[in-house]
Amino acid sequence: MIGARPRGDAANLLVTNIGQLVTGDPRLPAPGVVEGAVLAALGDRIAYAGPASDLDIANGPETIEVDAHGAAVIPGFVDAHTHLVWLGERSEEYALRAAGASYEEIAERGGGIRSTVRATAAGSLDELIAVTRGRARRMLRQGTTTVEVKSGYGQTQEAEMRQLQAALGVGTEPDTPDVVTTYLPLHGIPDGDRAAYLAEVLGAGLPAAASLAGYVDCFCEIGAWGVEECERLLLAARAHGLRTKVHAEQRSRSGGSALAARVAAVSADHLDHASDGDLRGLAEAGVTGVLLPGASLVLGGPPPPGRRLVEAGVTVALATDCNPGTCWCESMPLMVSLGVATAGLTPAEALLAATAGGAAALGLTDRGRLLLGLRCDALLLDTSNWLDVGYHLGVNPVAGVIAAGRLVEP
Ligand code: NIG
Ligand code: FE
Repeated sequence: MIGARPRGDAANLLVTNIGQLVTGDPRLPAPGVVEGAVLAALGDRIAYAGPASDLDIANGPETIEVDAHGAAVIPGFVDAHTHLVWLGERSEEYALRAAGASYEEIAERGGGIRSTVRATAAGSLDELIAVTRGRARRMLRQGTTTVEVKSGYGQTQEAEMRQLQAALGVGTEPDTPDVVTTYLPLHGIPDGDRAAYLAEVLGAGLPAAASLAGYVDCFCEIGAWGVEECERLLLAARAHGLRTKVHAEQRSRSGGSALAARVAAVSADHLDHASDGDLRGLAEAGVTGVLLPGASLVLGGPPPPGRRLVEAGVTVALATDCNPGTCWCESMPLMVSLGVATAGLTPAEALLAATAGGAAALGLTDRGRLLLGLRCDALLLDTSNWLDVGYHLGVNPVAGVIAAGRLVEP
């Protein structure tokens, strides 16, 4: 039960002298700032988050006390959309795009997702874990305490499962974020018969993924997978107890949002080309909208519809999309900056989108805010002003990371 705590227990971790504690408490004006605060953890849970004057948990001989010296503390970031498990690199495509080639033209020439599949599918589990670990640690150092990781560079069931295993393996290591896995079998177009590939995904892929992933996702896009193919996947996924996500309206208005609303997906991601009607449909169906402003910036095109999502009443999440093609970036602070600068969010909306919004996009109700009884995932900043997260562009504002009640960084 949220809020329950054995009487008389001492905190395991006590963060004192917090200048601004960003709680995300919806009862306070966003983003729920409490001044002169203390944060306490008992085990992996928050035992107290509020003004120092009302502190009601003691410290004992075992308590680790951290003096924040007036710094701001915010919830750990929840990065709800990444493609973190890949081998190889695509710097040449980066240069080609700078010279005027489009993402689609490069894909048609055999580059794009197909090129990363060539490099990744044959990788051993150890190789996949090694590269993923480096990226995951870089994320943790920049404040990401939970990360979603997709497969999608396998295109055989065996290779897809290996990517999910690599993600899960990295998630159990120390000094990495908590990992949520997503099976993304409909991403690039496979060589050979696409109908046969889809049949294999439905018949063999989904049952195998059911024990390795929490979610199923699809790239619903011209040049990738169509609405009908994606709908078959998502409906079948539900029968295996897997929740659903959609890459929707990233490069064109392809019908992914309406599909996400129809199947009551947990999230619809990208949405750069979504219409106002699409966004209303997401709101009515309770689908969280995940914006990937790094990918939007890199590829060009319309700005991410942050303001329009808020106006439509959709819960908004910000995520990195970390992948070798459209956005090689592990930084959630940068996404907060871009959420304000390019997506039209206020700083408070952007910070909440990167924390509580990310949790909503993963169906996680136990994190994303600093409230009694939730997981104690929190960041000590190197500044007394939480606004600096977005305002100070391109730096890492994170001076300390608390994950599940333990100080893990530095
Ligand atoms: O979210 N759009 C599809 N998937 C990724 C890109 C993957 C890639 O290019 O390797 C994205 O942008
Ligand atoms: Fe993606």
